[in-house]
Amino acid sequence: AMDSGVAKTSIDDWDEYKMELEERVGAEKRIISRIISAAKKNPKRVVFAEAAEEKILKAAQLFSDDKVGIPILLGNEKKINRLKEELDLDFNCEIIDPFKQNEKLETYATHFFEKRKRKGMTLQDGRHQMLDSNYYGAMMVEMGEADALISGLNTDYPRTIRPALQIIGVEDGLTRVAGMYIIRNKKGTFFLADTTVNVNPDVDALVNIIELTHRAVKFFGFDPKMAMLSYSNFGSAKGDVPTKTAQAVQIAKEKWPEMIIDGDIQANLAMNKKMLQETYPFSDLAGHQVNTLIFPNLSSGNIAYKLLMEIGASEAIGPILMGMKKPVHVLQAGSSVREIYNMAAIAVVDAQATENKKNK
Ligand code: ACO
Repeated sequence: AMDSGVAKTSIDDWDEYKMELEERVGAEKRIISRIISAAKKNPKRVVFAEAAEEKILKAAQLFSDDKVGIPILLGNEKKINRLKEELDLDFNCEIIDPFKQNEKLETYATHFFEKRKRKGMTLQDGRHQMLDSNYYGAMMVEMGEADALISGLNTDYPRTIRPALQIIGVEDGLTRVAGMYIIRNKKGTFFLADTTVNVNPDVDALVNIIELTHRAVKFFGFDPKMAMLSYSNFGSAKGDVPTKTAQAVQIAKEKWPEMIIDGDIQANLAMNKKMLQETYPFSDLAGHQVNTLIFPNLSSGNIAYKLLMEIGASEAIGPILMGMKKPVHVLQAGSSVREIYNMAAIAVVDAQATENKKNK
C-alpha cells in the first residue's frame, strides 16, 4: 500500500489523530496573525531595498496602512514617485536614494572601509558598493537608521545576503546564520532548516543550525520536536551524512539536555509518529509528533521545501533568516505582495526581539 504518512489503525486512533490535527491547524492559522498583532504593539522602521518595484510598493502601502511598521523606501526616488502615482498609492514615507545622499554615502563608505580594510577593501570600493541598495540598506540597519532590512525580490540569494553578512554579521556567540521555512498543510505546521544558506554544513555548523532553529520555533509559539534528517536511521547506513548528523545530535543532546531531538533519521519515519514508535521505541522522538526538520545539507533542505511548496503545502512562510546580529530578511525571488508584507511583519517582531536582548 502507498504510505500516506498518517497512521490510521482504529477508530480510537483516528479520533485522537483528528483532535490533535484540529489543535495544530488552529495554532498554525494563528502564526501570521499573531506576528502581525505583536508587530503593531511596537512598530519598527523597515527599509525596503528594492522600493522601485510594484510589489514592494504595494506591500509597503499595506504595511503602513495597517500600522505594522514604518516603511523606508530605498531606491531611485523619481522612479518610486512615478510608480506610486501610477499605482494610485498614497502613503507617506521617507524615500532614500543612495545616488542623492552624498553626505551619508561618505559616512557609510568610510565605516564599511574601516570594517574591511584588512580584508582587501579600499575606500573607493566602499564608495562604489554603497551605491548598491543591498549594501546601503544593510548599512542603515548597522548604523541604527533603520531597524530591519527587507531585500531579495529581484536579486539572487547569495548576492543579497553577502552584503548583510559583511556589514552586520552573525549574532555574538554564534558562527553561522541559517534560513528557515514554515510549511503549513492539512497535517500541521512544520519548520524546515537550513533551507537557504549553508551549502555543506559540518558537525559544528549543524549544531549551530539546531540551536538557531530550536529558538526560532519557540519564538513562533511552538514546541520544537526535532528530527535530524539523513538517508539512514540510527547508523543503518554509512557515509558522511549519517556520521555527521549522528554526531551533531549527540553534541546537541549533551549541550541542551531538555531539547527533544534525535537522528540520524529518515524523513518518512520522522514524520510518521506511529511508525517511529513501533520501529524505534528507544528514540527520544518516540511518542512525539515531529514538527521541526533539520537537513544535512543545502541540497536536501532547499529541494525539499520547494517540492513541498509546489505540491504539498497550503502555505509557506519564509525564508526566515536566523542568527543575524540585526534583522535582515532575504525574500525568495518573485515573492507575492502578501509574502513581502508577512516578511516585513516578521522583521518587525525580530527587531523588537533584538531590542529586548540589547536592553537586558
Ligand atoms: N553564516 C555567517 N556568516 C557567514 C556564512 C554563514 N552561513 N557564510 C559566510 N559567512 C561570512 C563569511 O565568513 C564572510 O565574512 P568576512 O568576509 O567578514 O570574513 C562573509 O560572510 C562573506 O563571505 P564570502 O566568502 O564572500 O561569502 P561566501 O562565498 O562564503 O558566501 C553565502 C556566503 C553567499 C551565504 C554562500 O554560502 C552561498 O552562496 N550560499 C548558498 C545560497 C543559495 O544559493 N541558496 C539557495 C537559494 S535561496 C532560495 O532558494 C530562497
